[in-house]
Amino acid sequence: MDSVGEYISRNKQRFINELFELLRIPSVSADSAFSEDVMNAAKNVAAALTDAGCELVEICETKGYPIVYGEKIIDSSLPTVLVYGHYDVQPPDPIDLWDSPPFEPVVRPTELHPDGAIFARGASDDKGQMFMHVKALEFMVRNDRLPCNVKFMIEGEEEVGSSSLGDFVKENHDKLKNDIILISDTGMIANDVPSITTGLRGLSYVEVEVTGPNRDLHSGLYGGAVANPINVLNKMIASLHDENNHIAIPGFYDKVEDLSEEERRVMGMAPFSLDAYREALEIDAVYGEKNYTTNERNSIRPTLDVNGIWGGYTGEGAKTVIPSKAYAKISMRLVPQQDWIEITELFTKHFESIAPVGVRVKVTPHHGGQSYVTPIDSIGYQAASKAYETTFGKVPIPKRNGGSIPIVPLFEDELGTKSILMGFGLDSNAIHSPNEHLAIWNFLKGIETIPYFYKYFAELYKN
Ligand code: BES
Ligand code: MN
Ligand code: MN
Repeated sequence: MDSVGEYISRNKQRFINELFELLRIPSVSADSAFSEDVMNAAKNVAAALTDAGCELVEICETKGYPIVYGEKIIDSSLPTVLVYGHYDVQPPDPIDLWDSPPFEPVVRPTELHPDGAIFARGASDDKGQMFMHVKALEFMVRNDRLPCNVKFMIEGEEEVGSSSLGDFVKENHDKLKNDIILISDTGMIANDVPSITTGLRGLSYVEVEVTGPNRDLHSGLYGGAVANPINVLNKMIASLHDENNHIAIPGFYDKVEDLSEEERRVMGMAPFSLDAYREALEIDAVYGEKNYTTNERNSIRPTLDVNGIWGGYTGEGAKTVIPSKAYAKISMRLVPQQDWIEITELFTKHFESIAPVGVRVKVTPHHGGQSYVTPIDSIGYQAASKAYETTFGKVPIPKRNGGSIPIVPLFEDELGTKSILMGFGLDSNAIHSPNEHLAIWNFLKGIETIPYFYKYFAELYKN
């Protein structure tokens, strides 16, 4: 029998090769041109689960992409860990900015990771992190170290709102019954500052359309005399923040839970260098809501951001035109007690109300989800904390994160259990960006740490 360290050093090249097979499949859920690839990624995950020792593996059809389910039940009197992850990825665009093709994984050293990082779309979000769980299971099964039951539920629509998974969870309470949900789809502060994510922001995502004249117009013949939808849209968007970068939608902050001074003080103790942050992004200053720190702005405070804006002529050269329409995609990150449906309604009402005469405005909600927080005194959190402490040699810091995984609060509502967010990625992994990567060190550290979670969770559960 191997220790986890020995097992990893004997098998690491195989682990990397197997992950590469999955990373080569361009499973972009947002773009239907890739639908066959998304299906192939599901098959790859199913085969990997079988190989790792799951006894029942199913590719569960849904209205959208399938959910890969796998389980190994060793003893019904033992607790059950449900692992969640996703095999779909974000579109790779802009492709030109990748130093190597997004679906041809390679290992390259970086300044932060001289020992090498895996570059590919999905390396960190979430194929690489999900695969850590598959290999951790393989280690536990082959070395007789699985201390509890395990179920896997790996979906293919996380990056587009998890709508099929929502139905699947609602219809499969028994199948998915568990004592704790375990997820690696977030990050840590740094490799020498391990942290566990204790919160996620909610999300409301909308698209807006401003319509002016019934056709594109010559900007000389009509310019100055009719409302230009792009000018108007920009004015409307600019008015959504005030001079303190506070969101200026009536009622937007009504339910926002303020943290106590003590909670803010504890949060402020996590190691953070503003200079390093600025340097990494090549910006000369940070920006945001007045009276909050950078780490507060990006985790415990709500935001409103334009994700894309278009209209008129954007091709080569110049075309003199007043467009008929202008569009923008807008996301709002939400914090505890803000309800995403209510916020979507507040936004819609407000945005319609600020439209000047001469244009019509249409707001179309996309997807959304609630925020999530988890306490640190639960046995799930304690097991995770002890696991990181064992393999990193440091007690991890609890930290609320600014990203969203809308299905996590739904798991709690439907299945009645909390999710433990054991991320092993870093903010510098460039998820959703060109050159996404995951350091080999982090990939292997995840595989090493996860079996300790099972061990400590089973022990704490017994007592
Ligand atoms: N894994 C991310 C979320 C994440 C990353 C949370 C890092 C915390 C730290 C997930 O795949 C994601 O991208 N979520 C989307 C929302 C989804 C509905 C498209 C997001 O946060 O934008
Ligand atoms: Mn993810
Ligand atoms: Mn993502």
